Amino acid sequence: MNICVVGSGYVGLVTGACLADFGMNVVGVDKDVDKVEALQRCEIPIYEPGLATVVRTNMDEGRLRFGTELGPAIEQAQAIFIAVGTPSRPDGSADLSFVEQVAKSIGEHLNGFKIVITKSTVPIGTGQKIDKIIREVQTGQHEFAVVSNPEFLREGSAIGDFRNPDRVVIGSVDQRAIDMMLDIYSPLRVADVPFVITNVESAELIKYASNGFLATKVSFINEVAHLCERLGADVETVARGMGLDTRIGPQFLHPGPGFGGSCFPKDSRAVVQIALEHGLHFQIMESVVAVNQATKERMVEKISQAFDGGLKGKTVAVLGLSFKPDTDDIRESPAIEIVKGLLDAGASVRAFDPAAMEAFREDWPQVEYCDNSYDAAAGADGIVIATEWNQFKALELRRLKELLKRPLIVDLRNLYEPAKIRAAGFDYFSVGRVGAQQEQRQEA
Ligand code: UDX
Repeated sequence: MNICVVGSGYVGLVTGACLADFGMNVVGVDKDVDKVEALQRCEIPIYEPGLATVVRTNMDEGRLRFGTELGPAIEQAQAIFIAVGTPSRPDGSADLSFVEQVAKSIGEHLNGFKIVITKSTVPIGTGQKIDKIIREVQTGQHEFAVVSNPEFLREGSAIGDFRNPDRVVIGSVDQRAIDMMLDIYSPLRVADVPFVITNVESAELIKYASNGFLATKVSFINEVAHLCERLGADVETVARGMGLDTRIGPQFLHPGPGFGGSCFPKDSRAVVQIALEHGLHFQIMESVVAVNQATKERMVEKISQAFDGGLKGKTVAVLGLSFKPDTDDIRESPAIEIVKGLLDAGASVRAFDPAAMEAFREDWPQVEYCDNSYDAAAGADGIVIATEWNQFKALELRRLKELLKRPLIVDLRNLYEPAKIRAAGFDYFSVGRVGAQQEQRQEA
């Protein structure tokens, strides 16, 4: 089957590459000429483990190519995946102008039955909107069907998530479209992946409700962590005790500096906005948005307390800038709030991240970027761990102690065992854990 994937961002690129790997004939179209030229040379613009290999293999085998011309790609395709950006507007609602432009082009180039599939997270009702635009724009009498097929992949494990998803959601009431979708995903059907087939609106809502629920889980445990600090309880044990209940599950119960990334913050705000547009207050999501902001801000207070209340004139080594490990993505990363807070308080920041420094430098040139964790620690008054990259989990403590002015670690991802790290002579602060006498002393 000939497939056109519009948008070569995160979702588009992974979708196109993986569908080619499923044996489809895929063209990825993007209007960014530089990006497309780079992709044609097999240079991948994003940091995603395993993606380069899938792209290269499928380009070499002739199933995957990239271009900038949308018209001919639409005309040749039987299925068109829309994977363009849906950024947040200032009020939190999703900006659909890119999706609408693509729908218009599809209408202009419709030359036979095609299915038009939304992969981007789009507000409920977008499928209908796309249907209306194509119908209004097309001059012929061609049939088409709009399908919602939300993507649940996570950055850093996107290829694995695409190949081995928990479920595939297909929203359409057109049997021809459903059959084509089942054909496209046949390798996953063979692998017994569950398929949820429903109408477009339900499929669109499944995506928002899933991300909203996971964001709620993270905010919930972050609030529990805060409470643990007041009570002298240990959030790691509380989370384990909760997660062993199969109705709750252990995932997304890791406390930290708040969620970031391109999905959770945007989608949480969008759920609030969608509900408001339909006359409802989605109170839990409203709280999640507020709790996440408060969590990020609380981290700066925590750091300030660890530094004995005074950040002015101090040098802080920040390890980790991306919103999570294995990505160079800094969108809504808690590290942004943290670095901003440190600089506002008069501290100097020396930072290291294995992948995200280039992106961070654009907005934060005043930060000193270092070659590695030890370089960042050299001469600093303490370390803040903001992202749980693997290489931060086994730092050479003795070496750090020699390099730091004061042996102080504020670990916002709970990577270390408090007792062990204190035994190594460090002042250690983490999130919501017992044995953190210093935390309790500061809170008192
Ligand atoms: C998320 C969804 O998981 C994915 O299904 C959807 O398609 C896109 O949004 P992603 O943004 O890549 O994926 O990251 P994810 O691993 O879900 O983490 C999101 C944020 O929550 C990160 O900032 C992460 O640090 C934070 N998080 C996650 C926690 O703080 N604790 C947790 O237990 C889990």
